[in-house]
Amino acid sequence: MNQKRDLLEAVRGISTIPTIPTVLEKITLLLQNPQTSAEEIGRAITTDQSLASKVLKLVNSAFYGFPGKISTITHAVVILGFSTIKNIVLTASIFDVFRKKGHRYAGFDMEKFWFHSIACGAASQSVAKFIGSSEREEAFIAGLIHDVGKIIECQYLEKEFTQIVRETQQKNQLFFDSEKQLFEVTHQEIGGLLCQSWNLPENLQNAVKYHHNPSKSRSHYLTTAIVHCADILVRAMDLGNGGDNKIPRMSDQVWQSLGLENLSLQSLLENVNDEVEKTTIFMQI
Ligand SMILES: [Fe+2]
Ligand SMILES: [Fe+2]
Repeated sequence: MNQKRDLLEAVRGISTIPTIPTVLEKITLLLQNPQTSAEEIGRAITTDQSLASKVLKLVNSAFYGFPGKISTITHAVVILGFSTIKNIVLTASIFDVFRKKGHRYAGFDMEKFWFHSIACGAASQSVAKFIGSSEREEAFIAGLIHDVGKIIECQYLEKEFTQIVRETQQKNQLFFDSEKQLFEVTHQEIGGLLCQSWNLPENLQNAVKYHHNPSKSRSHYLTTAIVHCADILVRAMDLGNGGDNKIPRMSDQVWQSLGLENLSLQSLLENVNDEVEKTTIFMQI
């Protein structure tokens, strides 16, 4: 029996796997047309009321820097610009996948996992800023979703997920190593399948697929390297918990390619802390 193939087939066959809201597809299409106006984007978002209210909460949070000042979606689009709004809509959509209630597992704390995810998003954004990359928003989203495969395991592969959690605790090892040992398939591939089905940009897909083996990310290496680094930083800083208590070794290639030796690690860590503090809204939404 090929367990790896079977498990990936099982994931592909989940008919209730979360789908990306149609409004996001609509916005993507609208943004391809240079004639599109802020009103049109605003109207597209408001067709989905629950999404629209999340977007408003986010744009009015300290994270985006306009606390309490934006009252309509169209106003938000004008102030923040099309691409930022698209990123916010994507972020708000991702919440629905993460925040689905009703799944409790001994040994896997969903609240801490959620905090690990947003902290990794904030840390990815900090790293992107420190190395002078312009892709800060993408880095945030990539960090936010890097472990989304664990959510799919938890919600749809209960038996396997329970085994992985137990193995991780008993051997006090990385969640990733337990997955490899038990099933030869990890949350990277499973999360990658979700990102593919959502048609997310390739840099986000690769960051999800390769954050534990960044050298395998042949294209968009930088986003993957940033997330690899951020994941390790937030573990070391004890910000949330991704399902294990181990801190993996930072890849030498990542360390060098991000030029981390030339940066003040202390100011980076301080900045990560500041950014994470601004994300408290993400815990409440
Ligand atoms: Fe991971
Ligand atoms: Fe992680």
